[in-house]
Amino acid sequence: MTMKTPSFSSYLLLAPLAILFLVFLLPSLNRSSGSDGIGVLCNRRTGAAHHHHHTVVPPIPAQAEPEPELSLLVGILTMPKLRERRDIVRLAYALQPPVPAYARVDVRFVFCRVTDPTEATLVSLEEMQHGDIMVLDDSCAGENMNDGKTYAYISSVARLFAAAPYDYVMKTDDDTYLRVAALVGELRGKPRDDAYLGYGYNMSGDPMLFMHGMGYVMSWDVATWVSTAAEILDRNDTLGPEDLMVGKWLNLAGKGKNRYDLKPRMYDLNWGMDNFRPDTVAVHMLKDNRRWAAAFNYFNVTAGIKQSSSSKLYHRLPLP
Ligand SMILES: *[C@@H]1O[C@H](CO)[C@@H](O)[C@H](O)[C@H]1NC(C)=O
Ligand SMILES: *[C@@H]1O[C@H](CO)[C@@H](O)[C@H](O)[C@H]1NC(C)=O
Ligand SMILES: *[C@@H]1O[C@H](CO)[C@@H](O)[C@H](O)[C@H]1NC(C)=O
Repeated sequence: MTMKTPSFSSYLLLAPLAILFLVFLLPSLNRSSGSDGIGVLCNRRTGAAHHHHHTVVPPIPAQAEPEPELSLLVGILTMPKLRERRDIVRLAYALQPPVPAYARVDVRFVFCRVTDPTEATLVSLEEMQHGDIMVLDDSCAGENMNDGKTYAYISSVARLFAAAPYDYVMKTDDDTYLRVAALVGELRGKPRDDAYLGYGYNMSGDPMLFMHGMGYVMSWDVATWVSTAAEILDRNDTLGPEDLMVGKWLNLAGKGKNRYDLKPRMYDLNWGMDNFRPDTVAVHMLKDNRRWAAAFNYFNVTAGIKQSSSSKLYHRLPLP
């Protein structure tokens, strides 16, 4: 294989060595509209730490976009081997009502370093196609969420985007269906600093002692504090149940005082799958394809497909 100019994929091949914090961000405007997956949700960020990728689609000249009222980075913590789930989640983000113009939302899948050579190659291809993957560095000990992956994610993005921060950073899971427009609607009127919101866990006399791991948002100043707080590391507080630990970091330091509980708009899907709500911000426990299908059906994502006849679909195929 001849090496041309250093490309994204060649960097990715170094991922097993884990010498760098690698983040892949493709400007979505480099792609045709209506493109695959999460890309459609990613509005262009100006001034962020972009690594430009060589694509066959010529870049669209930068347009003067008005600054949004709020910006949000969503990280979906998942594992390289869960490719099928990721494709379902990509559809879930792509096929939902558009993000309102007042908000800019970027969604990324987050892995620890990819050590398996086969996975590294496949992740590389996936990244080339979708441009929505973030690989954390060596500080990320393992994909198990209780081994410090959340800490690695929050502290890494706070450093990486320090020059062009988002207003908020979110951690969510690959079994959560997040409805982005509903979430930014909640965020719009909230403070941009010292904020921490999600599904509040009512414990020890505090109705929001910590936010459930299905998905929580913190303002950028809080994430920045996490990235610099030696006390978290000194106490080994990166290890343990990740959602509870995040609450502990913030509570001990008096951070995240602007705290909001998004119950009942965030919830676990029950066993019988009959507790969906039209005003859902996030529904969790979508642990298999059947439960994802139920969510797509409930939120009418499949309604358009049911209406089109199969012959119509055939006619769209190019004739030989
Ligand atoms: C939290 O739990 C306590 C004790 O179970 C209960 O009395 C209280 O109403 C709960 N608060 C909220 C906001 O759910
Ligand atoms: C943190 O973990 C290290 C390694 O397991 C251990 O040596 C150290 O005593 C721990 N520190 C605290 C405060 O528990
Ligand atoms: C889905 O479509 C049905 C029929 O039009 C409607 O009654 C229902 O409210 C829709 N559900 C949601 C969650 O929008």
